[in-house]
Amino acid sequence: MDNENVKKKVMLSGIQPSGDLHLGNYLGAVKNWAELPEQFDCFYFMADLHTLTVRQDPKELRRRSTAQLAQYIACGLDPEKNTLFLQSHVHEHAELGWILNCYTMFGELSRMTQFKDKSARHTDNINGGLFTYPALMAADILLYQADFVPVGEDQKQHCELTRDIAIRFNNLYGETFKVPEPYIPKVGARIMSLSNPASKMSKSDPLGCVFLMDKPEELARKFKRAVTDSDTERCVRFDPENKPGVANLIQIYSSVTGRSFDEIEAEFDGKGYGVFKPAVGEAVIETLRPIREEAERMIADKAYLQQVYTDGAQKASFVARKTLRKVYKKIGLVEKPF
Ligand code: TRP
Repeated sequence: MDNENVKKKVMLSGIQPSGDLHLGNYLGAVKNWAELPEQFDCFYFMADLHTLTVRQDPKELRRRSTAQLAQYIACGLDPEKNTLFLQSHVHEHAELGWILNCYTMFGELSRMTQFKDKSARHTDNINGGLFTYPALMAADILLYQADFVPVGEDQKQHCELTRDIAIRFNNLYGETFKVPEPYIPKVGARIMSLSNPASKMSKSDPLGCVFLMDKPEELARKFKRAVTDSDTERCVRFDPENKPGVANLIQIYSSVTGRSFDEIEAEFDGKGYGVFKPAVGEAVIETLRPIREEAERMIADKAYLQQVYTDGAQKASFVARKTLRKVYKKIGLVEKPF
């Protein structure tokens, strides 16, 4: 069989538009996604419905949802090769989400560490959506019969639950859903916070977080202030155990320049952190400059973005509709005659 006729495996992931994309999202995820469409049929969406589990400012949510799409494209996700869309534009997500709620156990949802963390952090708003969020995430994935779901460590538990839900449903009604697997890329850096290298870079810690849309001066400032280590040696050496701050900067420098850790150690041999930190900042500035500029250009071109997310939602709906119809039929809902 020639390649044209082999159905590609499906890859799907979502990011919540609850903040702008940061260097960790880029180097650890989106940059690698850009390489995938040769091999896979890729769907990426803005998980706008998921953000509602935490109170959002409506204007900001609307702005960020399309700005994030622009950032995806600027990072190399070609809309001609990937299906890019907003979750809320494909109503099948909410519909299958409801159904899967009825196949997800209270006990399972209670064990989700993200629920436990988030409900501890937002004690004034522990809403039902926060609790049942994994059922919607399962719907996101299962609608597209995804084979692989590229996610970070923090979403692995939700992916496991998605598998359990799919298997449970298939056992009750016969083969309906593809049972997906988490996709942990071979390459892909784990980028830590610049201000606290013990925790992952995150938009909830803005000081240690490098946003793709940060201006060069802002980036230079953040790197100059990056926490290094209090050891006496003060040399640039990759030792994540004892020098996590420096190791993180080496990792970042390596990811943006393509140089190996050995080459980097040699390059800064005998030079102190005062030389190293601005050099990393400069390399990041040059990497992000074209991405930011292209994203800004697209953000100003609303008609273009609208065309992309319209095409994306149409392509996504076509696939999602088929799965949802199959589900409705299997569970005994009367077929809609119109
Ligand atoms: N829950 C994910 C997060 O917070 C976002 C997400 C929603 C997602 N639906 C998804 C990721 C489906 C992968 C697949 O990061």
